[in-house]
Amino acid sequence: MKGDIKPSTAAEPRGESRVTGVQAHAASIVVRNAELGDISSLLNLEALCFQTDRLSARSFKHHIRSEHAELVIAESAVTNKKSQIGQTPEILGYALLLLRRGTQLTRLYSIAVSPQARGKGVAAELIRWLEEVAKTRGKPFMRLEVSSNNQGAIALYKKLGFVIFGMYDNYYDDQSDAIRMQKRLLSGKPVMESAK
Ligand SMILES: CC(C)(COP(=O)(O)OP(=O)(O)OC[C@H]1O[C@@H](n2cnc3c(N)ncnc32)[C@H](O)[C@@H]1OP(=O)(O)O)[C@@H](O)C(=O)NCCC(=O)NCCS
Repeated sequence: MKGDIKPSTAAEPRGESRVTGVQAHAASIVVRNAELGDISSLLNLEALCFQTDRLSARSFKHHIRSEHAELVIAESAVTNKKSQIGQTPEILGYALLLLRRGTQLTRLYSIAVSPQARGKGVAAELIRWLEEVAKTRGKPFMRLEVSSNNQGAIALYKKLGFVIFGMYDNYYDDQSDAIRMQKRLLSGKPVMESAK
């Protein structure tokens, strides 16, 4: 996965969970596909969450249009409703999954949650959503890389059932190593491919 993270300055209370909107489990969160009109909000979020390796407007546009990518957004259920009467919805987070042809693997390429919205299950909800997408597309595995310095994200992935299977030395701009993690989403033969 890309990027150096920006340290969070926000307090991270752990929220109560309940099912709302389109099968969201975290409190008052709606998950939906990103649209071209979300790009400026996505760029703001990217600037808030990453120091380097930020996705550009061009990349977001590409991924929104691509059939080999799933770019999903979490927003507040309240602002999602208001957006129907013309207000800009507040984006709480996004996640990007790459689904290439000819491989059983999917790759969680990026995930970010606004500092104010952390600790409320938004990232977990986005990942669960993408797991369903991957399964629907017949992809039994999800992989990702995460900086060995990013203990928060590593804890998140472990909690969701990802296991460590490898490492890339000196992978990120800050010379940190990348930990490679994988989750099996559907039963099947063990994967032998070495996906990037
Ligand atoms: C990592 C990140 C996406 C987590 O988002 P989040 O919405 O706060 O995560 P969730 O609330 O869904 O966390 C679910 C679980 O993950 C674990 N977790 C998440 N953040 C954690 C942290 N900072 N420290 C310890 N555990 C953490 C916890 O087990 C948590 O469950 P709990 O609330 O019951 O304790 C968010 O901190 C972020 O955007 N960071 C900057 C960008 C980044 O690092 N992206 C990932 C690498 S590309």
